[in-house]
Amino acid sequence: MRVIFGMLISLLLTHSSVGIHILRLLTEYGLTTTYGIRTEQLPRFNEYDFIIVGAGPGGSPVANRLSENKNWRILLLEAGGPEGILQQIPMLPTINTKYDWQYKYEPRKKACLGLRDRRCLCPKGKSLGGTSTINGMVYSRGHKLDFDIWAEQGNYGWSYDEVLPYFKKSERANLREPVDKSYHGKNGYVHVQNTPWRSPMTDLFLEAGKELGYDIVDYNGRQQIGFSDNQLTMVNGTRCSASKAYLRIRRSNLDIVTEATVSRVLIDDNNHAYGVEFIKNNKTYRVNAGKEVILSAGTINTPQLLMLSGIGPKDHLDELGIKVVKDARVGYNLCDHVAFIGLTFLVNQSFTFLQQAISTPGAALQYAINGTGPFSTPFPGGLAFTRTKFATDARPDLEIVLQAGSFNVDPRKGRARGITEEVYDTVWKPLEGQTTWGIWPSTQLARSKGRVTLRSTNIKDHPIIDANLLDDPNDLEVLVEGVKFAIEISKSKTLQRYGSRLHDIKIPGCETLEFNSDDYWRCAIRQLTTTFNHEMGTAKMGPATDPTAVVDPELRVHGVGGLRVIDASIMPEVPVGHLAATIYMIAEKGADMIKQSWQN
Ligand SMILES: Cc1cc2nc3c(=O)[nH]c(=O)nc-3n(C[C@H](O)[C@H](O)[C@H](O)COP(=O)(O)OP(=O)(O)OC[C@H]3O[C@@H](n4cnc5c(N)ncnc54)[C@H](O)[C@@H]3O)c2cc1C
Ligand SMILES: *[C@@H]1O[C@H](CO)[C@@H](O)[C@H](O)[C@H]1NC(C)=O
Ligand SMILES: *[C@@H]1O[C@H](CO)[C@@H](O)[C@H](O)[C@H]1NC(C)=O
Ligand SMILES: *[C@@H]1O[C@H](CO)[C@@H](O)[C@H](O)[C@H]1NC(C)=O
Ligand SMILES: *[C@@H]1O[C@H](CO)[C@@H](O)[C@H](O)[C@H]1NC(C)=O
Repeated sequence: MRVIFGMLISLLLTHSSVGIHILRLLTEYGLTTTYGIRTEQLPRFNEYDFIIVGAGPGGSPVANRLSENKNWRILLLEAGGPEGILQQIPMLPTINTKYDWQYKYEPRKKACLGLRDRRCLCPKGKSLGGTSTINGMVYSRGHKLDFDIWAEQGNYGWSYDEVLPYFKKSERANLREPVDKSYHGKNGYVHVQNTPWRSPMTDLFLEAGKELGYDIVDYNGRQQIGFSDNQLTMVNGTRCSASKAYLRIRRSNLDIVTEATVSRVLIDDNNHAYGVEFIKNNKTYRVNAGKEVILSAGTINTPQLLMLSGIGPKDHLDELGIKVVKDARVGYNLCDHVAFIGLTFLVNQSFTFLQQAISTPGAALQYAINGTGPFSTPFPGGLAFTRTKFATDARPDLEIVLQAGSFNVDPRKGRARGITEEVYDTVWKPLEGQTTWGIWPSTQLARSKGRVTLRSTNIKDHPIIDANLLDDPNDLEVLVEGVKFAIEISKSKTLQRYGSRLHDIKIPGCETLEFNSDDYWRCAIRQLTTTFNHEMGTAKMGPATDPTAVVDPELRVHGVGGLRVIDASIMPEVPVGHLAATIYMIAEKGADMIKQSWQN
């Protein structure tokens, strides 16, 4: 597979701009595969023991683990189709295609001001594998303390020592040094590797980190603070999505139906979930669940489904005329790692990988034949976690992610992040043909909370996503510290050997402010905001005594029988790090809890 498509790409890229265009068309229309996953047109039975909604990092492991019990019949319903082929190539852009729900945040006054329609984009994967088919592939767990805090809040079973075995259970690590071996799993389903080919920019980044006094660490091991090459969910130079990892098992008691959009959970008069209603090819179907329904539709769609099923804030459901099954704080507590995309540096030699990848036909050939080279590397080129002066406990409150190339080498000119033509032309167009690198700083322990609500009672209408980014001043100030940290890296001896310097064209909207002053950066961050798309928290886990909790520590919806949530929505607090690793852990643990509760 890799060979055929690599060859094709190699040919296409000989004429770079045409090539990119054709690639994009191919990504949008056609070229899909199920990678050996057996799917059914429709459910083969009227009743299953368990019905799982959504095939991302939450749902895929649950489908796999529950179907280990041959006496149970499992149905997995996924709104999207098979995953796209081109997304398997780490270097290629993935968002804003038909494999993406293409959500957007509501416009607000404090963030995303310089983006198209003043809206930040909220990509979410729509295919087998969910958002793991379009993400940056960085495998990074939370900090120990994140989970200890969850446990302290009354979530028994979720302390770091208790969840570590599930991180390891999900993982099949094959990593370069430094690696703290006792923290990693060897026999799980999710392949975790470094890129087979490391960008020279990554080496410089790590060297600069050392120069600034940081350790080079395994951020999933003993110490999170430090500089690191990425650990990625990939294998043999290609993406390892949740579906590729967990759903190729072809068990006769697991039916997978794609292009099936669940429109609500069926709940009886005793508040017990007994099945779901779903739509496929414009037809509505019902299917029953003898034991449980499990929602794994992600941070945006899980609260949508809960609310459409009558589980949500009473006043909001009343407004829409939805019969209230359970008054609950669904959709609240939306949180994410807010970030800044406007920081660009220039160097005087072309060693960043993007140019090489796009301009040399050799690179594509190398990927096609050997699965290595720039094409095997995703955009994030390395990362560092650190504590700013605003940190309140042992956890790092800032992450910086290295970008081995800025928007000036992006064939889509930043459009996939909402950058307008006007901003691109002002800031990045003058850099075309030059070698750039960037850093995206992000606030880890973000305090601003947003909310997801229903736009209408129609499942097809996108929910209203009000992320409320940068509402809390802490989140902005941490980013300003992040910018200063990045500038320090650029000033290191290591990068000065390449004449690294800050790109100083002012970001539109901030022209009146003194360049490089704190106020300038505050303005720039509010203009060119993004998030790492780690949206979480909209069906919060907590004990019955917590009025804001939607699910209990065993992920059962409070006040409704036969219904659990297993995905990013259950996280009570935003963890430090990227999200998918933690969701795989939650899913492995969730599946175990389900097995235990039906054993007794
Ligand atoms: C651009 C981008 C980059 C990212 N980079 C990283 C990264 O480098 N590292 C990292 O760890 N995380 C990253 N993430 C985040 C990470 O991928 C997600 O947090 C994770 O995939 C969420 O898992 P989930 O199972 O909760 O939801 P999802 O992965 O979103 O899966 C939900 C699934 O449910 C399906 N679904 C939704 N509604 C319905 C319905 N009504 N009926 C049936 N099916 C439905 C969806 O189609 C989807 O397949 C990134 C995200 C984005 C968008
Ligand atoms: C990766 O490549 C090796 C060697 O070619 C092969 O044995 C292995 O099955 C591949 N792994 C996956 C998951 O494709
Ligand atoms: C579903 O209905 C819409 C509008 O009625 C129509 O445009 C579309 O082609 C139909 N899709 C299928 C798969 O039948
Ligand atoms: C593939 O790898 C082999 C062995 O390392 C090397 O000799 C060869 O040149 C590589 N091919 C390409 C196209 O990069
Ligand atoms: C890049 O800049 C550095 C520092 O100014 C200088 O020493 C070096 O010679 C320059 N390299 C090139 C290729 O211009």
